[in-house]
Amino acid sequence: MTDKLVILPGDGIGPEIVAEAAKVVGWLKDNADFDIEIEHDLIGGQAYDEYGEPLADSTLEKCRSAKAILMGSVGGPKWDGVEYNKRPEAGLLRIRKELNLFANLRPALVFDALVDASSLKPEIVKGLDILIVRELTGGVYFGEPRGIEDLGNGERRGYNTQVYTTSEIKRIGAVAFDLARKRSNKVTSCEKCNVMESGMLWREDITALHASAYDDVSLEHMLADNCAMQLLRNPSQFDVIVTDNLFGDILSDEAAMLTGSLGMLPSASLSEPGQPGLYEPVHGSAPDIAGQNKANPLATILSLSMALRYSFERGDLADMVEAAVKDVLDSGKRTGDIMSEGCTEVSCSEMGEAVCSALESVQAEKAA
Ligand code: IPM
Ligand code: MG
Repeated sequence: MTDKLVILPGDGIGPEIVAEAAKVVGWLKDNADFDIEIEHDLIGGQAYDEYGEPLADSTLEKCRSAKAILMGSVGGPKWDGVEYNKRPEAGLLRIRKELNLFANLRPALVFDALVDASSLKPEIVKGLDILIVRELTGGVYFGEPRGIEDLGNGERRGYNTQVYTTSEIKRIGAVAFDLARKRSNKVTSCEKCNVMESGMLWREDITALHASAYDDVSLEHMLADNCAMQLLRNPSQFDVIVTDNLFGDILSDEAAMLTGSLGMLPSASLSEPGQPGLYEPVHGSAPDIAGQNKANPLATILSLSMALRYSFERGDLADMVEAAVKDVLDSGKRTGDIMSEGCTEVSCSEMGEAVCSALESVQAEKAA
């Protein structure tokens, strides 16, 4: 049976950026012995408009039978008034939960050509290569009880629950340690054990896991606020950062920005081996520039590359796509978000086309 890729473009710039990643898939199918079946469906606000749900059951079933899902982005002002559990974001949270995508990998890598796009000094970000491993199906995002209650005296009370069990902590910890072994062999585990019991348990369980199975990896614990500060002060001290759902959400946006643009950062959300993975850019749906062919499709193209590596076991093709992206950046082509002096500004679709033609040269070089 042919492996299946489900494409969920989503809202805002989602359809534009995903279309460029789809061009890359098309190129690989035509030129690189990559035989997959592609299906499209809706998620987020688009799905709400069409099905009345931000993620329909039928879409979910399609995704369950796929090897990988490539998503654009969800959300936008159009759905601001929609009831809470039908918001576009609820569709994303549901697919993460239903497919048990507990491990969210968010690499922050600074391409040499983009060193100047970072708001930090070039000497601080040059060569930067960090991997944030964010727990994605637990914590305060899903904890019960949650809600807003009326206290009856003109006051209301909003509450959420931060909760983690030992098995959830050890499961994400193991992903981080395994990945660190293939990189620089260092894990920094972040929580707020100074104020939260869930953080205390996190620290104890990561320490125990490390002692029992990973004592060859160097482990450091750091309070999440300190980590936010250290990411700006000296980001290259980090290799793999493992953290919970909420801190991971925040720290990964920060790490993304070190690289110059949120428009460059891919992500993979993985479950147990053999189960479908979800691949999406870290950035949002950017409604302000949607439909203008201005968005940066590289985070989505790099997310596709992660899918090739982690779900399709085609590391060879992932290497090619990453080399092509690097070549395009080296050639000076830039979308508006990463534009700098002396470079050539290109549109979203021109960027996608540039990656496809760079793939031609990468492949020719490989063959030579
Ligand atoms: C992310 C996003 C989501 C999150 C939103 C859109 C629900 O910010 O993937 O980082 O908070 O997880
Ligand atoms: Mg986020």
